[in-house]
Amino acid sequence: MAFVGHVNGLVGGHGSHGNVPAGSSCQRQSVVRCTPRTSRTVYMTVSKDAVAVPTNTHAPAAVQPGESHLAHADAYKFEDFDQYVMNTYVRFKIAITKGAGCKLYDSTGKEYLDLVAGIATCTLGHGDARLAKTVQEVMSNVHHVSNLFYIPPQGELAKKLAQRSIADRVFFCNSGAEANEAAIKLTRKYFFAKPENDGKVPVIITANQSFHGRTLATVTATGQAKYQKNFTPLVQGFEYCNYNDVEGLKAVVEKLKNSSTHKLAGIMMEALQGEGGVVPATYPFLRTARNLCDDNDALLIFDEVQVGVGRTGSLWGYEQSGVLPDVFTVAKGLAGGVPIGAMLCREKCNVFKPGEHASTFGGNFLATSCGLTVFNALFEGNVLENVKQRGAQLKAGLLELQAKYPSVVEECRGMGLIQGVQLKSSAGFTSIDIVGKAIEKGVLFVPAGPSVLRMVPPLVISAAEIAQGLSTLDAVFAELSK
Ligand SMILES: Cc1ncc(COP(=O)(O)O)c(C=O)c1O
Repeated sequence: MAFVGHVNGLVGGHGSHGNVPAGSSCQRQSVVRCTPRTSRTVYMTVSKDAVAVPTNTHAPAAVQPGESHLAHADAYKFEDFDQYVMNTYVRFKIAITKGAGCKLYDSTGKEYLDLVAGIATCTLGHGDARLAKTVQEVMSNVHHVSNLFYIPPQGELAKKLAQRSIADRVFFCNSGAEANEAAIKLTRKYFFAKPENDGKVPVIITANQSFHGRTLATVTATGQAKYQKNFTPLVQGFEYCNYNDVEGLKAVVEKLKNSSTHKLAGIMMEALQGEGGVVPATYPFLRTARNLCDDNDALLIFDEVQVGVGRTGSLWGYEQSGVLPDVFTVAKGLAGGVPIGAMLCREKCNVFKPGEHASTFGGNFLATSCGLTVFNALFEGNVLENVKQRGAQLKAGLLELQAKYPSVVEECRGMGLIQGVQLKSSAGFTSIDIVGKAIEKGVLFVPAGPSVLRMVPPLVISAAEIAQGLSTLDAVFAELSK
């Protein structure tokens, strides 16, 4: 497949939440010269029948004689997209048409280093031959049958996840929000399993600046008014405290203890707030949450949708804190970009009975087979070690940039391959401006709000690619702070 080529501009939309302000610099346009590339299809035998598996060779192919990519400059109809797709994101104006490892290519053929990975999702990068093979095999055989029947890869993935975590049971769904919905329902069911709670309102405490999803319950759990505005009435049964505020958390629990109508059912926290600005939880905060749950027979839920599956350098984010949850949720990276979500829990709160919770697609052959491929790849390829090393390299480089640009960088935070740069309020530009400039220079970053720049690359990123990302950021800082 040859790239059709042409023009583009800068992206808008900060990741999954699309809240880049209209009119920000991401809407500027730029024309680029492009290097044409093609992908090749190689044939390999994956079962008794030979099937074509598009394997990414990562090798750019030569321009065909007479082929000009700029000649196709208007081939991608951004206007059509904008006319027909619902306007829920502000998008950066590039159309991605190819991926290879940690590189993406737009419809002009321009190459980008991808430090976004579909927002912490493409664990193995793009065009991974193992995932391609899995998808090919599953789709050539059986990919969906419903949960009325046993689905072997679902059982196998659940077993692997349970064997490598605190969980005993797994419920599969399709996204992070759905996994959190499942956790919220499970918490309520666990609460009402105790007769003394009859007639009380179960309350789950979450943190301000958290992000748990866009469904009504998860947007209520999300402690950010901007996501809730215009969607009232919200769901009952949520209270908030400031993240990492031990006394604040204790105060909310104390308030609930004194209530005759409401009672603590659970505490739901991210081990590191991703969307909220790449803020790791402190040990005292999570320890306090654990103790309060123990004291009140409430469930401690960790939302690991963004940090689970190796991103922090350990398989689960909770391993970084040493505080263990009763329930945790994962999605994003679990199947490397194939939609999947999962809610995992200990046996003590394995309270759902048949019919109480379900998902048509949840745990189907396609998603769970891809989950297995990603999971196996994490261990076969020593990917967690790569996350630790590349994460340390990235952090060290960011700290050097902080020293070089003291008027720009306030703080560098993160764990493993989720790193954030907090900008000084006096920097004179936003994270969205940085993303825009970096796109011009061929590197993709993602904002976590206007004052934090986030890096969440594929977990297989190389040392040279981290170095490229850092030198581009250096150049962007230099240019923007002129
Ligand atoms: C911590 C966290 N929880 C939940 C979600 C929602 O996941 P999804 O967009 O798959 O519903 C996200 C998405 O960014 C997230 O970062």
